[in-house]
Amino acid sequence: MIGKKKRAEQKTGKERNRYDVDEYLDEKVSLFNIRRVVGYLIKAQGPLKLSLLFSILASLSSLVGPLFIKRALDEAVPNKDLNLLFTMALFLTASIIASITLGAIRNILVARAGAGIIHDIRYDLFSHLQKLSFSFFDSRPHGKIFVRVVPYVNSVSDALSNGIINFIIEVLNILFIIFFMYQVSPQLATITVLGLPVFALFIMIIKPAQRKAWQDVSNKGANLNAYVQESIDGVKVTQIFDRQEKNMGIMDNLTNARNKSWMKAIYISNTVWFSTEMISQIVFSFVYIMGVFWMNPMASFGMLLVMGNYTWRFWQPIINLANIYNTFITAMAYLDRIFDTIAEPVTIQDIPNAVEFPFVRGHVEFKNVSFSYDGVRRVLNNINFASHPGQSIAIVGPTGAGKTTIVNLLSRFYNIEEGQVLIDGQDIMKVTLHSLRSQMGIMLQDSFLFTGSIADNIRYGKLDAADEEIRAAAQLIGAHHFIEKLPQGYDTPITERGGGISAGERQLLAFSRTLISNPRILILDEATSSIDTGTEQLVQEGIQTLMKGRTSFIIAHRLSTIRNCTRIMFISDGEIIESGTHEELMAQKGRYYELCLAQYSH
Ligand SMILES: Nc1ncnc2c1ncn2[C@@H]1O[C@H](COP(=O)(O)OP(=O)(O)OP(=O)(O)O)[C@@H](O)[C@H]1O
Ligand SMILES: [Mg+2]
Repeated sequence: MIGKKKRAEQKTGKERNRYDVDEYLDEKVSLFNIRRVVGYLIKAQGPLKLSLLFSILASLSSLVGPLFIKRALDEAVPNKDLNLLFTMALFLTASIIASITLGAIRNILVARAGAGIIHDIRYDLFSHLQKLSFSFFDSRPHGKIFVRVVPYVNSVSDALSNGIINFIIEVLNILFIIFFMYQVSPQLATITVLGLPVFALFIMIIKPAQRKAWQDVSNKGANLNAYVQESIDGVKVTQIFDRQEKNMGIMDNLTNARNKSWMKAIYISNTVWFSTEMISQIVFSFVYIMGVFWMNPMASFGMLLVMGNYTWRFWQPIINLANIYNTFITAMAYLDRIFDTIAEPVTIQDIPNAVEFPFVRGHVEFKNVSFSYDGVRRVLNNINFASHPGQSIAIVGPTGAGKTTIVNLLSRFYNIEEGQVLIDGQDIMKVTLHSLRSQMGIMLQDSFLFTGSIADNIRYGKLDAADEEIRAAAQLIGAHHFIEKLPQGYDTPITERGGGISAGERQLLAFSRTLISNPRILILDEATSSIDTGTEQLVQEGIQTLMKGRTSFIIAHRLSTIRNCTRIMFISDGEIIESGTHEELMAQKGRYYELCLAQYSH
């Protein structure tokens, strides 16, 4: 059990979640979530209403059946009225056929409603996820996010379509049956109905434990998922370090934990089912005993048979309700997670009345910017600098100094809390994200490629780019050469994360992708680090082309990439400690000078 404070921290993303840590649990069913559920149901109300109508018709046609049996037994048989017997048999058959046919149509309608609800929830969830900030994704395993989008949404669909319809229908069934029973025998009907409060009391007692148990299942399942995903992503490293056995141990623990919570939940749910059956059977026998002994003179054979049938049917919907309730409780555990994600605040978004940035000239200024990722440790400390349009700024410094953080802030991947970042004199917090980012070419430290062809990946930078443009960009960067050598050229498929081509080639593609987007401000984070010396010459030329007429920020460890920059800033421990041209800094004989000496001596 984790404390309230920790829970709040996990919610805000300040506390990091891991595969071996359960996510927080909200014990109460939140009204907010119920309202959301209702929202989705209202959206799917067309097919839902229709299936409800068909359900009612199906259930009514099945419920009138016993009345025909009663008439047959109490009137047709004693009077040897064959005609009536035949008519009743015909009616009974018709009612059964009608109920089955209507039920079949209803099932299709319910499935359609369910598919609609699933689509809506998943769409909202996915579109929200795409807007969430880096810090949301930094602070939890991706496997735990993934499970919400696919398996969880699948799991709740049945509860939200079938479950809701069945719930309404079973409640109506109960009311109908009570009505029919009172028509046959008010006394026996009363005995049957008296079982209800017992059942309700039982559910009230067991509900909290059951909800908690299913939440725990969802938590443990998410842990397992997170670990599997991490292990698949890291399988190469696992094999390099021969960690398979150790990992199997972790997996074993996670699986056991999940199974244990699952068994507990099943045990509780089963108790619900078992007790409902027991209560129903006891009431059932009671009706017979009472019918036979207590009300003997009044109870006809037909009446007893029909009451037996109705009593049995009366408990059927209640047993069904108990099952629906079980599905709901399970679904609620998943819905909590899904809705939590949808409710996750979008921290990086346009402020009200954000202005459009029509055309960025490229004047960039950092004014007293300080920054911390976790609110505790300062990573940037009072950064001040300015660059004019078209200038190129190199950012160098030891690892962890804060170089990537500077460009993260410039691209507004994190909110600037202290100080200001100005582009063309405009505070970037006050402009629309779209207009800001669409004029920036950002190459992150690990350039991600998507499933699709090479051409598709380059086109990612400009969706309407023609094939010739893609070629031209690749040529300019120097990627054309290696692409041509591939058997399918620009149509060569690339698997997830750019599998199938070398690291250097991946970077060349990422370069081309950035070039084609024709950004006003260019940011390259260590873009040249994995390109071999032969290719580097090509890339150098590519970068020079890329930088022409654009304000550029280049983070690189290779001095050859940066020595021609207008200005070089040396960052250490989140502060700019040296700034100037290559020649100026060399003359200063400071940290940059030492860095150059160290590199040249290799
Ligand atoms: N998402 C994050 N959450 C918390 N701390 C972070 C995060 N990213 C980076 N840091 C911390 O901020 C500091 C600066 O990181 P940054 O990525 O800016 O370094 P860098 O100068 O780019 O280093 P490198 O040359 O290794 O890429 C580091 O101490 C790092 O541990
Ligand atoms: Mg970095």
